[in-house]
This record gives sequence, structure tokens and C-alpha cells, in this order.
Amino acid sequence: MTNNTLTRNEIVALDKQLIWHPYTPMRPYIDDIDPVVVDRAEGIYFYDRDGTRLIDANSSWWVNVLGHNHPRLMAALVRQTEKLAHCCLANITHEPAVRVAQKLLERCGSDYARVFYSDNGTTAVECGLRMAYQYWQNVGQPKKKRFVSLSHAFHGETIGSASVSGTKVFHQTLGPLLFDCIQLPSPGKKDGTGSDRPWYEQAFARARDLLQEQSQEIAAIILEPLVQGAAGMLMYPPEYLSQLHQLCQELDILLIADEVFVGYGRTGTFFAHQQANIEPDIICMAKGFSGGVLPMAATVANKRVFEAFLGPAEQTLWYGHSFTGNPLGAAVALETLTIFEEEKIIESLPPKCNAIQRGLDRLTDHPWVHDVRRTGMIAAFTLVSDTSKDATANYLDDAGWRFSAEARKRGAWLRPLGNVVYFVVPLTITEAQIDELFDIAHQSLQAIR
Ligand SMILES: Cc1ncc(COP(=O)(O)O)c(C=O)c1O
Repeated sequence: MTNNTLTRNEIVALDKQLIWHPYTPMRPYIDDIDPVVVDRAEGIYFYDRDGTRLIDANSSWWVNVLGHNHPRLMAALVRQTEKLAHCCLANITHEPAVRVAQKLLERCGSDYARVFYSDNGTTAVECGLRMAYQYWQNVGQPKKKRFVSLSHAFHGETIGSASVSGTKVFHQTLGPLLFDCIQLPSPGKKDGTGSDRPWYEQAFARARDLLQEQSQEIAAIILEPLVQGAAGMLMYPPEYLSQLHQLCQELDILLIADEVFVGYGRTGTFFAHQQANIEPDIICMAKGFSGGVLPMAATVANKRVFEAFLGPAEQTLWYGHSFTGNPLGAAVALETLTIFEEEKIIESLPPKCNAIQRGLDRLTDHPWVHDVRRTGMIAAFTLVSDTSKDATANYLDDAGWRFSAEARKRGAWLRPLGNVVYFVVPLTITEAQIDELFDIAHQSLQAIR
């Protein structure tokens, strides 16, 4: 039995008439693109309405950490729909919200005090920025109001989160709408100094000089621990993070970890910052937080930050969204954490990481493949094709899309970042499925040359 009412062609025609797609140049989309029309999905696979099966090697924009339609997540969602779909979380509470907070704080560590819920990665970051900004006013140091981020960072879509981002191609049109932010050199992208010291050490030395000069005015540093995703999967070692954290403590600067992409196991540990043995003041999470089922996010604050908001009414964090703490989202977020525990998701990763490394190693001798890199379950390489100028990540280069089209013909959905091809697979993928994916990658590379 089917409840389809439209044919595939009708869906595509209506889509092209009616929908404005995210991060999509619409003219070529309307004229030339045959979109994947997902009919259903299960585990690591999408099924197109035309019957084609595709490995979702993008985890649907890095969201589906546990694969599609995980039966336990679906069951938790159905159970919750029978009781309560929505209520606001101001002077009201409910069991899923408190149970997620309890489990999450256990994961974060004993220094953390409160969980603030919101809707997506952008709002999780926006909320963290507001907490940090107001913290300094509440403790009587209003001069500390500037933010620091890494160049090439991506932290979201609101004016606040875009202001602390550094991906020019996405946000340059906003120009003067964005507030001023100090940018540190990215530890993941060599800006070229000719020195033999590792690049991340040079980046840290420059960060130290900048921060020491201006620490009196700085509220917080925000960064993506270990992997700057949207910048083109720029990777850096935990040493940079631990040194920067140490510096933040010396200079009295708050540290915000944007774990929206790298959290929930992506880098091999539950949170990426745990590899540096640090405890940031504020942790932002989304994407994997609700197992890829519903839009929901969280911003976790440590005791120091939270306790600064316990004074008179004017010290309140006047922030929230209609769907803050949505019970359906909370029910799947709770089940996600339970699955991580009971199905030992983190413990299952090392052999999968090895399988990904083996797959990558098979691609390295292709002449267009440069800068092959991996952190935990995140893998990437940069394509230097006949149309690319050099091996730096370039979002407007089409080399990755040419590769992607070949991969789609062979059964994998690999959405590139310009000339950067990356693999961000559900953590539930098997080693055999990883081999299948890298067979496709190998064949696709041969096809584009
Ligand atoms: C590190 C990071 N922060 C924030 C965001 C924004 O998340 P969302 O798209 O859910 O608003 C993203 C999105 O990719 C991200 O990678």
C-alpha cells in the first residue's frame, strides 16, 4: 500500500516552482539539477522515489549520527506523541526535559550547572554568545564585550552567530550588519609564514599576542573544537585547544565550545573538546543532539556562568524560543543519549575509524587528491582538478560537485564543500558499508579524471 499522491516528476516540477532551497544557487538548480527525491530512509541509506538507493555519506547535513529512522528513536517519538507534543518551558516543565538535562550534565562533567534548550545549531550558539556577553555585565565588568573567533569559522545564521563566523563567501553580503569580532588565525589552515614550526603552534603564538593585548575588552572566544567543518573540514590537534584554554584562564576570558558539528561522537570522543582535557565555560550542541529526528539544541553553562544570573530581575537571561524544550525533541534527545550509552556507540568507533583510514589510503595516489585528512569519523580531501587553482578549500570551485555526481550514479550521496570532498557518515555504519562507500569514492575519482 502506498500513500503517495504525486509522481516523482510532479514533485520535482512543483519543487522548482515553489521552493527556495538553502545554500543553493537557484538559477542552475531550476535549469539543470535533478534533485534526489527522498521517499524514505533507513540506517545509512536514502531511497529515491525512482527506486535508487544512496548511502547518505553527509548524514543529512551532519545531523543523523545514529542513521535514519533508528527504531528506538522512532518508538520514543511515538510514545511521546501519545502524551504531549508541545508546551512552553517558562514556569512549566516536563519529564523528558529534566531527564535529558540530567543525562547531558553527567556527560559534560561536574563543573556544569544548567542546560538551556533551543531549536538548532545557530540558536545554541546565539544563546551561548548572549550568556557570555551578559555574564560580564552581571559581574560588574561591562567593558568586556568583544568576541574572538577563528578565521574561517562557521557558527550559524543569525546576525550574532554570523558575526563571529569567518566564512566570507556565506556572510560577506551582510557587510556592516555584522558586529566587530577579533579573528585569530585558524590553526587548521596554513596561512604561510615559511617557518618549520607546526602551523598550529604558529597560530597559537599569534593568538597569544593578540589576546594578551586586548584581554581587558574580551568577553569570550568561540571555536569549533578540532574540526572547522563548513570552512572545508580544516583540522587541528587537541594541543592547540588545551593551550588556548590555559590562556583563557590566565587572561580571564570565557571559552565557548561550538560542538554543534563535532559533538556526539563525530571526532571519536563524545565531545571533541574532551580530547584536550578541557572544560569550556559554555558548550553549544545541536545536530546529533536529537539523533537527527527533530530540530532541537542545547547550550550548557558551567556554575560560574550560571550563578552570575541569579541576582535581581535585570540580571535575567531574557532569551528563549517558542519551541524551547519541546517535549517531542526532548524525548528523542533522551533516547539518543540512552542509545549512546546502551549501544556503546563511542566504544564501537575505533575499528570504524580504521576502516575509514584504510579507505582514504586507497585514494591518496590519485593525482587530484590533496591534503587527505581525518579526525575520528570525519574524513576529507581537497580536489585539485583541471579547473581548480590550488589545494586551498574553495567553496565556489565545482570540482567536488563533479565528483559528487559520479558518486551519486554509483550509489552514494556525497555533498562537497566546493573542492573539498568529505565523508561524515552515520556512526552506526558498519565496516563493510564503509568499504562499500570507499569503493564508490575510488571509482568516482577514476571517472572524473
Ligand atoms: C559548527 C557549527 N555551528 C553552528 C551551525 C549552525 O547550525 P544550524 O544549521 O543547525 O543552525 C553549524 C551548521 O552547520 C555548524 O557546523
